[in-house]
Amino acid sequence: MEKILEVKDLQVSFNTYAGEVRAVRDVSFHINQGETLCFVGESGCGKTVTAKAIMRLLPKGQAVIKEGSQIIFSGKDVLKMDGKELRNYRGNDVSMIFQDPMTSLNPTMTCGKQIIETLRLHRGLSKEEATKEAIHMLEMVKIPDAERRIKDYPHQMSGGMRQRVMIAIALACQPHLLIADEPTTALDVTIQAQIIDLLRELKEKLNTAIILVTHDLGVVANFADRIQVMYAGQVVERGTAREIFYEAKHPYTWALLSSVPKLAKESKQELYTLQGTPPDLILPLEHCPFAARCEFCMPICKEQMPPETVLTDTHRLSCWLQHPDAPKVKSFYEREV
Ligand SMILES: Nc1ncnc2c1ncn2[C@@H]1O[C@H](COP(=O)(O)OP(=O)(O)O)[C@@H](O)[C@H]1O
Ligand code: SF4
Ligand SMILES: [Mg+2]
Repeated sequence: MEKILEVKDLQVSFNTYAGEVRAVRDVSFHINQGETLCFVGESGCGKTVTAKAIMRLLPKGQAVIKEGSQIIFSGKDVLKMDGKELRNYRGNDVSMIFQDPMTSLNPTMTCGKQIIETLRLHRGLSKEEATKEAIHMLEMVKIPDAERRIKDYPHQMSGGMRQRVMIAIALACQPHLLIADEPTTALDVTIQAQIIDLLRELKEKLNTAIILVTHDLGVVANFADRIQVMYAGQVVERGTAREIFYEAKHPYTWALLSSVPKLAKESKQELYTLQGTPPDLILPLEHCPFAARCEFCMPICKEQMPPETVLTDTHRLSCWLQHPDAPKVKSFYEREV
């Protein structure tokens, strides 16, 4: 499989009055053509900052991508791009959709016109061709009565429909990679499922690689090829969807799994709510970032950063429980209540 994006040792900080917020701390991953990779973790763990770094959309002056970070897209060095090359990359190689379509759609322009403009700009279509293609795109994202709805303004559409329009705009330039940042978080559960189904269908039809960002592990079941679990600006566990759902070994992943109602029920556990909050990212982290909240925390967890353990080609995690001398604990799958 062809690797289209490779991120190596990504470090992003924000300079604030309170100090340097180290939002992304040495994150590395890749995504192949046509693959679905999900970033999962609680709010504030660096998912959006990682996604925006890939898009080069971090606020200038506030965010600093540290020396040594690498983002390579199809052999091109994204961090060195500027001007036309960067515009091309953003329009034609990678597109992003956000949680709240209302903030990204232009309220003063019909949805149709917003798709048509994208098509004309990025694919050089005539007005007529672009209008036809825009209707086709709206049909593809399953907006009923597309020919009529193309004339609607964003406020005339429901939240779910607006998110579909955003997906249509994002796909209009036929990107190789689509980054969807919490695209369903503002929607109700049934609509959420429909949007995820739509993304899955589009991925199969168009062979677009997708990075789906979510705080809810429940959303990515049946969607992700691979999952990376993020905590405090780091990837703490990564694996195929199978490995993360059925063979996870990191206590933080277990906590996320047991907070998904359906999974907790399947494994006959009580629904679990993680206590406490992620650590302050202004502080240096020289030990396991999850130590303060982990029920298995050992003295070493508060002294040293756990090394990464490689379990398979795809499955890796950083936790001291993997050390040969660590006590055996009951995993998420073994604990019944
Ligand atoms: N503009 C900013 N200024 C300062 N800190 C920021 C800024 N944007 C994000 N952060 C911090 O970076 C960390 C990661 O944020 P983010 O990537 O948005 O988390 P999430 O995983 O919820 O998407 C958070 O601690 C957040 O407070
Ligand atoms: S390293 Fe220690 S504190 Fe961190 S997740 Fe593993 S057991 Fe818990
Ligand atoms: Mg976010």
